[in-house]
Amino acid sequence: MNRQIKIAPSLLAADAARLADEVKKVENAGAEWLHLDIMDGHFVPNLSFSAQTVAALRPLTRMYFDVHLMITDPVGYMDSFVDAGADIVTVHKETADDETLRKIAEHLHSRGVKAGISVKPKTPIETVAGLLDVFDMVLIMTVEPGFGGQSYMKDMDEKIKWAAKMANTKYPNLEVEVDGGVGVKTAALAAGSGANVLVAGSAVFGAADASAAVKEIRGIGETAAANI
Ligand code: DX5
Ligand code: ZN
Repeated sequence: MNRQIKIAPSLLAADAARLADEVKKVENAGAEWLHLDIMDGHFVPNLSFSAQTVAALRPLTRMYFDVHLMITDPVGYMDSFVDAGADIVTVHKETADDETLRKIAEHLHSRGVKAGISVKPKTPIETVAGLLDVFDMVLIMTVEPGFGGQSYMKDMDEKIKWAAKMANTKYPNLEVEVDGGVGVKTAALAAGSGANVLVAGSAVFGAADASAAVKEIRGIGETAAANI
């Protein structure tokens, strides 16, 4: 597979008192995407930031805004994130039936943004098979959603391979994103299984030198992808 690796630092791991500086830091570090984790205290046992924060950050950067909705009511809130400047909005498979999920994707497209579908670690990846004709991205969770800084679950590799195979065989524009515990020690596992978008929270924002971290993770990912 020959798809460009994109690095998506997760703002959840940034210094919350200095978000504007942190966004600039990872943009200058060469990250193409900014991963924005939205939590409602219901779908996951944590809260994060709102559409208001996303909107406040939008004018500061040209990075692609990758909004990951970990909320039980994506239908009720997705438009506020489109209005806030999201480029892609990802919803969870576990939050709605397939008919609703299809309508979500179609609605997001009608509003001019891309749509992603995500699976928690215990959700089989095959459950999204009938949705890939309308979604632009599959996001495979490699930690239980809710918190940054957890360890990468290596046994998600088969799910990544399945999604990459779908991209290679049926849906050439499908992005395959991996989220949770990705860093210099695990980027090869994710990219070597076929992921092309690597979310990295603590590995980038927690690094002494964010530019070096982005460069290193990208290099490891590109090498692993080239050897598939
Ligand atoms: C977890 C979030 C992740 C998280 C990743 O619920 O979806 O995006 O911020 O953080 P790290 O890279 O630190 O595991
Ligand atoms: Zn996320």
